[in-house]
Amino acid sequence: MIILKTDEQVELMRKSALLVSKTLAEVAGMLKPGITTLSIDQMIGTFIRDHEAVPNFLNYHGYPFNSCISVNDVVVHGFPGKLTLKEGDTVSVDVGVNLNGWQGDHAYTFAIGDPGPEVAKLIRVTRESLYKGIEKAVAGNRIGDISNAIQEYTEKQHGYGVVRELVGHGLGRSLHEDPQVPNYGKRGSGPKMAEGLVLAIEPMINMGKKDVFTEDDGWTVRTRDGKVSVHFEHDVCVRKNKADILSDYSLIQAVEKTNANLFLTY
Ligand code: MF3
Ligand code: CO
Repeated sequence: MIILKTDEQVELMRKSALLVSKTLAEVAGMLKPGITTLSIDQMIGTFIRDHEAVPNFLNYHGYPFNSCISVNDVVVHGFPGKLTLKEGDTVSVDVGVNLNGWQGDHAYTFAIGDPGPEVAKLIRVTRESLYKGIEKAVAGNRIGDISNAIQEYTEKQHGYGVVRELVGHGLGRSLHEDPQVPNYGKRGSGPKMAEGLVLAIEPMINMGKKDVFTEDDGWTVRTRDGKVSVHFEHDVCVRKNKADILSDYSLIQAVEKTNANLFLTY
């Protein structure tokens, strides 16, 4: 069942989305070679709770951490842990909050030091594909229009692998609401979008083949070929002519630019 949000509810959801953006901006400031992913997760949990919110991934279907930190060939749902980041690592950080009963959920991929031109391009193209999808998130279009825009740009134009097993989703009082938002599909297919539909659009794009597997921990998703995967996610509200992006990468990028340990792809 698709639940459309009132303007008032969308403003509450913007607050949730922006708290995630602010959390990711804190992450952008602390990333450096030698840091453990668990210490990043701990900061994330503390920061969210300091802002009168709750990390909504924690205990979600038993998920045991505040955030997902997915390094290199980990696609999504990477467990924070004793792994230390090093130069050349590609790090997707996915954060969710429950603020006043409304969920925010978005992600950003950082490069620790120079990842090389091929990975830098994958990061750039994946981020751009998210915006190509968002361009289609307007009332009257169908979900498949978003899916197709992402797939065309990443798979057809750049030859990357689009992960099939994981998809974007509706967002609201629950972390995962209808409809599903695949990153592949046919133009003109799927549910029709109306104003007030809030979506988490999240391309997961592989340098190599699309195939992935889940580790024995039941969560960690990796590429089968061991090549790098990149993940970006925004929370957006469908509107008449142009989607309203509730999350804000400019908050993250303002900090990313000042951290000399990070490589910029824009
Ligand atoms: N952005 C991811 C998603 O929408 C994060 C979920 S992780 C979980 O599925 F732990 F909460 F499942
Ligand atoms: Co999500």
